[in-house]
Amino acid sequence: MTDKLRVALIGYGFMGAAHSQAWRTAPRVFDLPKDIEMAVIVGRNEEAVAAAAEKWGWQEAATDWRDVVARDDIDVVDIVTPGHSHDEIAIAALAAGKHVLCEKPLANSVADADRMAEAARASSAIAMLGFTYRRVPALTRARDLIAAGRIGEVRQVRAAYRQDWLVDPAAPLSWRLKKDEAGAGALGDIGGHAVDLVQFLTGQTVEKVAGTIETITKRRPIETERVGIAGRGGDEYGDVTVDDLAIFTGRLSGGALASFEATRFATGRKNQLSVEVSGSEGAIAFDLESLNELHVYDRTADDLDQGFTRVVVTEPGHPYLSGWWPAGHMLGYEHGFSHQVKDLVEAIASGDQPTPTFDEGAQVQRVLDAVETSSADDSRWVAV
Ligand SMILES: NC(=O)c1ccc[n+]([C@@H]2O[C@H](COP(=O)([O-])OP(=O)(O)OC[C@H]3O[C@@H](n4cnc5c(N)ncnc54)[C@H](O)[C@@H]3O)[C@@H](O)[C@H]2O)c1
Repeated sequence: MTDKLRVALIGYGFMGAAHSQAWRTAPRVFDLPKDIEMAVIVGRNEEAVAAAAEKWGWQEAATDWRDVVARDDIDVVDIVTPGHSHDEIAIAALAAGKHVLCEKPLANSVADADRMAEAARASSAIAMLGFTYRRVPALTRARDLIAAGRIGEVRQVRAAYRQDWLVDPAAPLSWRLKKDEAGAGALGDIGGHAVDLVQFLTGQTVEKVAGTIETITKRRPIETERVGIAGRGGDEYGDVTVDDLAIFTGRLSGGALASFEATRFATGRKNQLSVEVSGSEGAIAFDLESLNELHVYDRTADDLDQGFTRVVVTEPGHPYLSGWWPAGHMLGYEHGFSHQVKDLVEAIASGDQPTPTFDEGAQVQRVLDAVETSSADDSRWVAV
């Protein structure tokens, strides 16, 4: 294996920007075992993808991912397209011997996710899934504290991912609101993050669920222009075929009960991912809107005035912080993507499979699928 990794990025929307920044930044911040070349970015619109290549620093632009995946001079395929295309691209890339980084959700169905997980297991290449929040330092730290027993036995978990970009009835029918492209709505998009995060933090899996999903606004103007996540619509309307909101309960493998909420209708909440894990000896709490902070409670401390301690997770000894700024100089949303690239490149160099694996992605898909089944059957408990 050479000391250079030539990367192909498939897609150039929101995640295209985030991943481009990460591929550019990670090697400048961390001492990576391999050099990175941002070789080619792929999209279907020749002019737009050429502009993205120029803006974000890719050597070339291309319009057919199949040609790119077959090229001998590409080592890594990074997939940042909507969920319905992940399986075809990832399976082709793995078959061609490429390392793959795939955005979440792994796929839009359990069957597709299983095929991807099987392809990853059969390949000697590295396959990693983009549940990026695992690499927010405060959350990585929280996982370490829980694994070290700092909060004792996990008894209860509350996880909520709340956005409000669909409150406006004029928000258009984009691919995120179409089942054939997105697979699911808030449940699959941000609910998947919440499920992954709870499993990551606790080291336990969700074994059964009971819940309800709901579509509040059933028809929306068909998208005519893409601006940010929501876009603009015209005079024609179409059916929304995914959920707007999902609320469910999950039983974890260690016995604890977890509550989950995933919504695009939480008026005033822009991108609030909050999680609280309550244990026999303490608790941790986190909110993405204050992503440098972890709140830690130690109930064994003999202190009448104790409460949750606000820890600013920017010390050099905290996860991923060694490469960044002096303590207290805050990190943002984009840093998790650089950490993802760092871990992926180190895994490729060592040959050790990094997490989240495609198997883990398929398991999250099973949890989401069980929530849909539960909702369709009067919210009864459904085994994952
Ligand atoms: N990790 C995270 O926190 C996070 C955040 C947002 C989105 N995502 C995931 O990233 C993926 C992309 O989401 P986004 O927000 O960037 O969407 P987006 O709509 O902004 O961009 C999607 C891109 O894919 C391109 N595309 C679509 N089909 C294609 C095809 N067949 N071939 C080539 N290009 C194609 C589009 O032209 C566009 O450039 C989704 O799976 C989404 O769930 C992850």
